[in-house]
Amino acid sequence: MGGEVKPLYSARQIEARIAELAEAIAGRLPADMVIVALLRGSFVFAADLIRALYYQGARPQIDFMTLGSYGKSQESSGSVAIHRDVSEAVQGKHVLIIDDILESGRTLLFARELIESRGAESVHIAVLLEKPGKRKVEITADFRGFVAPDYFVVGYGLDAANAYRELPFIGLLGEGA
Ligand code: IMP
Ligand code: MG
Repeated sequence: MGGEVKPLYSARQIEARIAELAEAIAGRLPADMVIVALLRGSFVFAADLIRALYYQGARPQIDFMTLGSYGKSQESSGSVAIHRDVSEAVQGKHVLIIDDILESGRTLLFARELIESRGAESVHIAVLLEKPGKRKVEITADFRGFVAPDYFVVGYGLDAANAYRELPFIGLLGEGA
């Protein structure tokens, strides 16, 4: 993996946007919300958002879920599988699902329906990025960092074949770079 990455959102832009998102989230959800971060792509975003939420008075419980769509290609396939489930019950909780990017929407629709079916009191979704042109199912994020172009992006937790997650910024890879 040695492809060129063209910066799209800088570390400072991301930090500033996350502070705004945290303020909006803390204004809408109770301080004792349960956060479910979807692994692996959201781990950097979730870590920074959770600390920004602290400064807005939130005192969340944090949980994780690993979901995957079948196949390793850059175009996600139709079905979603649970590779690792949450550790705590979500029944009666106000849940905030955090993910890296809303693209086809299948992953987040699956996650939302799963958590709703387990009796969560409310379910909200926060994503760092949204690619509006690629939606395959009807779902919207309640909180969104940036609208990204319909090209493959990496960095800040987002990967291409599990590389580039360590970049402190988000950049375009391949045809978009
Ligand atoms: P969706 O189910 O099609 O909305 O895709 C969601 C998942 O696909 C995300 O959580 C990412 O892991 C992955 N994904 C979609 N677009 C990109 C991208 O541009 N870069 C890296 N991962 C992506
Ligand atoms: Mg991924």
